This record gives sequence, structure tokens and C-alpha cells, in this order.
Amino acid sequence: MRIRRTVYAREYRIKVKLKTLRLGLIGCGHIAQMHIDSLLKLREAGLEPLELVLACDLEPERVELFRRNYGFASGTTDFRRMFEAGLDALYICSPTRDHLESVLQAAGHGLPIFCEKPVGRNLAEVERMTRAVEEASLSAQLGLVLRFSPVYQVMRQLLHEQGVGRPMAAVFRDDQYFPVGGSYHSQWRSDLEVVGGGALLEHSIHDLDLLRWFFGEVNRVEARTDYFSGRVGIEDSAVLLLEFASGARATLVSLWHQMLGRESNRNLELFCERRYLASSADMLGTILVQDQHGPVRTLSTRAVDRSHRRMLGRKAPPGELAHSPYVLENLAFLRSLRTGTRPFPDFATGLAAHRIVDAAYQSARQQAPISVS
Ligand SMILES: NC(=O)c1ccc[n+]([C@@H]2O[C@H](COP(=O)([O-])OP(=O)(O)OC[C@H]3O[C@@H](n4cnc5c(N)ncnc54)[C@H](O)[C@@H]3O)[C@@H](O)[C@H]2O)c1
Repeated sequence: MRIRRTVYAREYRIKVKLKTLRLGLIGCGHIAQMHIDSLLKLREAGLEPLELVLACDLEPERVELFRRNYGFASGTTDFRRMFEAGLDALYICSPTRDHLESVLQAAGHGLPIFCEKPVGRNLAEVERMTRAVEEASLSAQLGLVLRFSPVYQVMRQLLHEQGVGRPMAAVFRDDQYFPVGGSYHSQWRSDLEVVGGGALLEHSIHDLDLLRWFFGEVNRVEARTDYFSGRVGIEDSAVLLLEFASGARATLVSLWHQMLGRESNRNLELFCERRYLASSADMLGTILVQDQHGPVRTLSTRAVDRSHRRMLGRKAPPGELAHSPYVLENLAFLRSLRTGTRPFPDFATGLAAHRIVDAAYQSARQQAPISVS
């Protein structure tokens, strides 16, 4: 008998009985911890009754760690057990190479998934997974977490406000240390067979999705990639010029450097005809705004938080839960499962970002601009 708890869910406006969702997880690593922390916060706040049923990792010690630390009822090193465990949803948090098999199996079993980005190592894999998910009408969300960032939600609203004119350009810089070592406890990002590419695919897929969300479809891309660390096929520098169907343009500089002491950092500047916006926060932080006749003003973190909560309306979780894009993406996923609505960002959205990555890699190889199909 499945436990049901009565929860006051603000978006339903009434007290509703929510069933306890049974969750499984493949890949007990860095991002899985972020998801589990978020899920446990939602459960503790009484918003989302859920049970951590089954954790899977190739390394038994990691499974054991997740069982001990997070209270998973059981663990396995064989991902196929996920499909016999009576789960309501599966989190796919393994390295990129291993997404394919898990996604195809989940589609075959009709098991809803939350799958981490990048979807796959190359466009062919991503197309295959997207087809499988769509043919199975599977509830499937991707970890394109910047879509849930308070600062970017507010910037996007300010970018499209009436009177600011057409969006003209973006200057986007994203840098982090080469993600092996430091707070990364694994090496797979330096193995081309597993990772499929470098900074652009593995990390800046987020940035391309964000630029597309802000400016619309990309028509053409010109890119150059470099390999300072000497790892074949894994670029640590990618510089892109993107041309949007709207007429706007953007530059993206994506770097994996060797400064272990430097935190991952994004800086985004946006220009409309009559408005300038900038932020160097990618979750919650300040935004600089300048309009046609005024000086530069700073929207404080509190002001950004207030605007973001207004945007979320009744869907906003209380207190600091609304500050974390990871909490918000998990909440959105669980709510979509409960309400039977299509989760977002979906595979079609991920595929569109992967098409830009693919065109950028072609452009870098051919040293020429490439149309994004
Ligand atoms: N959305 C984000 O902000 C974000 C951040 C970091 C990573 N990611 C993505 O999450 C995924 C995992 O990255 P990570 O940083 O957590 O890596 P990680 O190395 O910290 O964790 C991966 C775990 O998967 C396990 N594993 C490897 N192959 C497996 C298999 N076949 N079956 C089961 N388990 C397996 C490893 O032993 C490890 O414990 C990647 O796709 C990555 O791009 C997303």
C-alpha cells in the first residue's frame, strides 16, 4: 500500500493527498549529490513526499555511501535492476557515454526520467535518444539547470520588456578549471571515449541552451577550438560567434583552465537597442541595468529574488528553496509527474542545443561558418 501524505500545495490552492514517489538513481557522483540534497530538502519542507528506493553505481563503495548518507533503501551495480524495482522515476547521473543505454531502456519500459546534460557524446546519439523518448511519449526532463536560475530568469524578463528595443548582442564568458581533480573526484572528462568532447559539449551546452532561450533560433555559427592541455579531441578553449534568426549576434568564450583556486564563473552582458544588462552570477546575485537615459543601476540580490518569486507566483517554494536552481528543477520535475504535464526542458530542447554544438565543432574543423540545421 503506497503511503499518501496530505500536503498543502500552494499551486493546487487546496490540501491534496500526494502519493509518495519512488525514485531511483544511476551514477552516485557529484551531480547526483546535488539532486539528492535538493530532493531531501523538498521532502523535509513537506512539499514532496518521496522515497529513495534504489541507487546504482559501478563502484560498490559509492552505492554504499549513498545508502548510508542519504537513506536509499537498496543499492546495485547493475543498472538493469532499475526497471524491475517499481519506480515512479529514474535519475540518470552517470557520465555522458552511459546515458544512451539507460535512456533507451527507460523509454522501452515507460519509466519517466530526469537525465543529466549533455544528453549524449554526439548528435547521432542525441537524435536516437530523442526519437526513443518521443515515440514512447516518455515523461523526460533534462538537467539544463540554468533555465531555473533566478538571475537568468529575471534577466530574460528584463531583456524582453516593452520599450527596450530589439535584442542586439550578447557577450558570454564561461570559465572553470579543467574538471578533473579539485572538487571533481573523477577522471572521465579527460577520456574522449566517455565524454565525447570538451568544454563546449560537456559544460557550455548550458550556455548555448541559455542563449537560444534568450534570443531564439541560431542560424549560423563560426567557432575555433584549442587544446592547451594536450588532450586529443577534448578542447579546453572554444570561441564562438553565433548569428540568430532575429538578427542578434552573440560571442561565447568557453574555457577549461588550470587554476584550481578559481571558482567556476560566468559573465553575461546583453545589449538591446535601449537597455544594457550584465551579471556575473549564474544562480542568485546582482544584475546591472542601464536604460536609454539613465545611469547604470544595480538590482540587488534581494530585488532579484523578489522579482523571481513574483514570476513563479504560487509555484514558488518557501524561503531559500527558491534560491537554488537545482531545487527548482527537481520540484518542476516531480510536479510534472504528479500533474501528468510534460516536463521541461525536454529532449527536443536538448537536441536543439546539441545541433549548435555539432555545427560549432564542424566549423572549428573546417575553419568556416556553418549553418545550424
Ligand atoms: N547540470 C549540471 O550542473 C551538471 C554538473 C555536473 C555534472 N553534470 C552531468 O552529470 C553527469 C555526471 O557527472 P558527475 O560530475 O556527477 O560525474 P561523477 O564522476 O562525479 O559521477 C559519476 C558516477 O557515475 C558512476 N558511473 C560511471 N559509469 C557508470 C555506469 N555505467 N553505471 C552506473 N554508474 C556509473 C561513477 O562511478 C560515478 O560515481 C554528466 O553527464 C555530467 O555532464 C551536470
